[in-house]
Parts: sequence; C-alpha cells; structure tokens
Amino acid sequence: MFLWSWRYGLANCGIITNFAHYFMIEIRNIVKRFGELEVLKGIDLDIVPAAVTSIVGPSGAGKTTLLQIIGTLMTPDGGTIKYGEENVFALSDSRLSAFRNRNIGFVFQFHQLLPEFSLRENVAMPALIGGESRQVAFSRADELIKRLGLSERSDHRPTELSGGECQRAAVARALVNRPSVVLADEPTGSLDSKNRNELHRLFFELRDEIKATFVIVTHDERLAADSDRIVHMEDGRIGHLTVK
Ligand SMILES: Nc1ncnc2c1ncn2[C@@H]1O[C@H](COP(=O)(O)OP(=O)(O)OP(=O)(O)O)[C@@H](O)[C@H]1O
Ligand SMILES: [Mg+2]
Repeated sequence: MFLWSWRYGLANCGIITNFAHYFMIEIRNIVKRFGELEVLKGIDLDIVPAAVTSIVGPSGAGKTTLLQIIGTLMTPDGGTIKYGEENVFALSDSRLSAFRNRNIGFVFQFHQLLPEFSLRENVAMPALIGGESRQVAFSRADELIKRLGLSERSDHRPTELSGGECQRAAVARALVNRPSVVLADEPTGSLDSKNRNELHRLFFELRDEIKATFVIVTHDERLAADSDRIVHMEDGRIGHLTVK
C-alpha cells in the first residue's frame, strides 16, 4: 500500500520520470590523502540497489572518509564513482549539488535537524530545496512521517522530541527526495538499545517496502550481521566483503 501510494503519488505529480533506485553505484580505485597520510588506498566497491550495505572496521580505518566521498561531500584524490551512467566527480559544482540533493540522502550520528523548524518542515526541507512545490514537498513529508510513526509529533521542534524520534525524522528527511541511496554514519550510535533496535528494523523494512538502498557505517554488530553486504575496512582498504 505504501509502495503503491508512494509511486502513484509521485508519478501522478509527474515528479519522477525514472526510478533512480535501480542505479548501481560503482566505486573504482578511490584514493584519498590528508597531507602525507593516505587514508583510502584504492577502494573498489559496487553498491547494489534495494539492499543494506554495512561498512565496519576499526576507528581510523577510513569509513567516514569513504562515506563522505560516496556522498560527494568530499572529493577523492584519485578514482571514480558512477551512479548508473553518471560519473559524479566530472559534474560541475552546481550540477553536482543538484545531483546530490536529488539522489543522495544522509543520516548522521546526531540527527542534525534544524532547531528553528518543526519536524514536518525539517523532513520537507530537501524537497523544498530541490525546487518542489510546498504542496508536493509537504505531502511527501507527511506520508513518510506517518509511515515512521511520527504523525503526533509532526508540528514539534527537534528540542521537543526524543533522540529516537529525531533519528527517525532524520531518516524521513533523507528519504523525502526518494534518493538512489541513503548514506548513514553511525546512525544508531547515539541511541539506547530500544531505539537502536527500532531504527535498525526500520532500515530493513524500508528496504523491503520501498526498495530503499542503504549504506551504513556502524559499530553495531547486530546491524552489520543482518545486512545484505558487509564491507570490512582496514587501514584504508577493503579487507573483505561478505555477501549474503
Ligand atoms: N579532515 C581531515 N584532515 C586530516 N586527517 C583526517 C581528516 N579526516 C579524517 N582524517 C584522518 O583519516 C583517518 C580516517 O578517518 P575516518 O574518519 O575516515 O575514520 P573512521 O573509520 O570513520 O573512524 P571512526 O570509527 O573513529 O569514526 C584517520 O586517521 C583520521 O584522523
Ligand atoms: Mg567515522
């Protein structure tokens, strides 16, 4: 039902002409240095759609750096990333910003909701920034807020919400443009075990319901173990990849 209304709603408004979800993301020979320090030493990885990929490994292994580069928030010193046919680092700055807004959702360890806006406004924000009308942006936001069980809290500001509610709102915000991928950096890191388990379950439900694609940096062994693919990073390299 949710999948139907989501797709029908968007198709009906003429917003989506193709379903970006089916992009494969091809990461090839990514190298990143900070001064003398080579933090990523040639990363090759395919991110498959409609799956949860976890990135695990010790502190300093380069997980956040890799996620930021996949998210185009940071430029590598070498290598390429293709979202489908789009070679993202070949895009101009303005086209890359538009591409990022449209195709990539972010969830951080601390929700980073804007304190002066309501939950509903925060969730709608990427759609408004992307140029959608208020009507479309808020109807999509409302649909996600309802799905994530936050309708009662919709008009509240982030300071009036619990940590778990804020993280669920951050997930809704990440999904509002129906991105090709949601990138999450330790999204359950600041939560207690109940909220951690709830958020954890939500990622897998959204994978199944709307075919969402997640790449999650995590120290949570259970989240990693349940993932479709586990990328084990060590010292700037992929030590091994577990595929279920
Ligand atoms: N902006 C920066 N300038 C210089 N060095 C950096 C910068 N960002 C990260 N580093 C270094 O790069 C290495 C990898 O950092 P990164 O944040 O990617 O690790 P991580 O695997 O996410 O670790 P953690 O599990 O602690 O979050 C570390 O040695 C870190 O100190
Ligand atoms: Mg990190």
